[in-house]
Amino acid sequence: MKYTFISSSKTKTQELGTFLAPRFRAGDVVLLKGDLGAGKTTLTAGVAKGLHVEDDVISPTFNILKCYFKGTLPLYHIDAYRLEHQNIELGLDEYIEGDGVCFVEWPQYIAPLLPDEVLSITLINKGGDVREITLESNSEHFDSLVNDVKGAF
Ligand SMILES: Nc1ncnc2c1ncn2[C@@H]1O[C@H](COP(=O)(O)OP(=O)(O)OP(=O)(O)O)[C@@H](O)[C@H]1O
Ligand SMILES: [Mg+2]
Repeated sequence: MKYTFISSSKTKTQELGTFLAPRFRAGDVVLLKGDLGAGKTTLTAGVAKGLHVEDDVISPTFNILKCYFKGTLPLYHIDAYRLEHQNIELGLDEYIEGDGVCFVEWPQYIAPLLPDEVLSITLINKGGDVREITLESNSEHFDSLVNDVKGAF
């Protein structure tokens, strides 16, 4: 299933994350695609809010992985930007399809570690605060999630 809508503010993009948060379950993998500054981390911050994680979500670019355990479900936030394909022995696979939901920025750099069943979210900067957001699913679980978004955004 595929659904595209326009987010016209940072808040709206965060609201998508907050809306999705309670619908995730342990082992879910979400791929965040889009250029630098498209809004991938912003969306993840909305998810953290929806999971009642108390900490601020910061860009994990220099950390590769940030883990948030205080919420209703563990949130793993991977940013593979700096890895550029050299990641393979880092042990990231423990967090992908693990006991929480895993968000991956720049997933193309860790392609061999990713499962078949994922939710893909692509953000495109259309200028100013406008972002085109496309959700794509390939499983029953994620289809139902995209369907919910369709009704609300
Ligand atoms: N509609 C919008 N949705 C999301 N972010 C927006 C929107 N409008 C403006 N912004 C701004 O765009 C920036 C998005 O930055 P963010 O760190 O989320 O991008 P990113 O995709 O994670 O980039 P990177 O690949 O560098 O990690 C923020 O400064 C945010 O305030
Ligand atoms: Mg980011």
